[in-house]
Amino acid sequence: MRILVTGAAGFIGSTVVDRMLADGHSVVGLDDLSSGRMENLAQAAADPRFSFEKGDITATNLADFVTRVRPEVVAHLAAQIDVRVSVADPLHDARLNVLGTINVLEAARVAGASKVIHTSSGGSIYGTPTALPVAESAPPAPESPYAAGKAAGELYLNVYRATYGLASTALALGNVFGPRQDPHGEAGVVAIFGTAMLEGRPTKIFGDGSTSRDYVYVHDVADAFARCLPAEAANGLRLNIGTSVETTVLDLHSRLARLVGVPDEPQFAPPRAGELQHISLNVDLAAREIGWRPQVDLDTGLGHTVDWIRSRLGGSAGTGA
Ligand SMILES: NC(=O)c1ccc[n+]([C@@H]2O[C@H](COP(=O)([O-])OP(=O)(O)OC[C@H]3O[C@@H](n4cnc5c(N)ncnc54)[C@H](O)[C@@H]3O)[C@@H](O)[C@H]2O)c1
Repeated sequence: MRILVTGAAGFIGSTVVDRMLADGHSVVGLDDLSSGRMENLAQAAADPRFSFEKGDITATNLADFVTRVRPEVVAHLAAQIDVRVSVADPLHDARLNVLGTINVLEAARVAGASKVIHTSSGGSIYGTPTALPVAESAPPAPESPYAAGKAAGELYLNVYRATYGLASTALALGNVFGPRQDPHGEAGVVAIFGTAMLEGRPTKIFGDGSTSRDYVYVHDVADAFARCLPAEAANGLRLNIGTSVETTVLDLHSRLARLVGVPDEPQFAPPRAGELQHISLNVDLAAREIGWRPQVDLDTGLGHTVDWIRSRLGGSAGTGA
């Protein structure tokens, strides 16, 4: 199959690219490199079935590019990913995440693609659910511009399916972690804690550390994309992609400190406004529709992530493991 991956140089996008290539597909990656890095695509670049285009998903000539590529499936991961950036500048967020997504859908339609796989956010679109783990049947109740933008993308997905026959699936991801995650933003607590611990810097927890998230390993996320490639797979559905397990920030910090071999002694700062308290995702629908279940447990995934951060830092960081 020929697949276009937007956001290909990013943390999750590059992992999806590697998985698609490993499965024998040919892949074209698109990324404006605003936060993505070409080094994430080093492995892919050595594969003759991969090519890369530096470009913007909001560009007016996106459809020309996608028409030249002629993908059967578009895996759409390019986005502004920071909830706090969306709160500070909702228009910027909507330009990328709403108009950008419509532009990708339109380009896919014009180019004759059979399917778009959209990347939604299970960690934010449900707002503050009444019961956990939350299932797809719960109504979206965004509490941030980022979440609203992701939910809007899902609505347009449905419109393109109903109006133009473009098949689609929205993958509502939990808190994704793993190798290649950027520790420099505000998102990605595993990368932030892990890098700080390995560099011997203090770690900071906002609030008392009792907030909880559903952490899912990036290779499991790539597996969900792979299973959604056939046009008929989960067509028209949102699938939660998580583990159904709530992990508190305190627990995550302890696990990472143990793996790195440093004292479990975070500093505490005042809680940040607008953060969700607790979230976990019911993933039964993904199991039923595409046979997906998370395969990598938290400690195993954290171990791989710490190994990767350590190798990036030159192998000398940290004292333990
Ligand atoms: N990381 C998570 O926990 C998580 C959770 C839920 C959903 N998501 C979604 O998964 C997707 C990938 O996120 P990620 O964590 O890999 O982040 P990332 O920042 O590593 O990846 C996003 C990529 O998109 C690229 N990009 C941004 N704007 C672009 C534009 N206008 N045109 C072309 N490329 C552009 C960036 O350069 C980057 O490579 C996003 O849609 C994000 O909202 C992530």
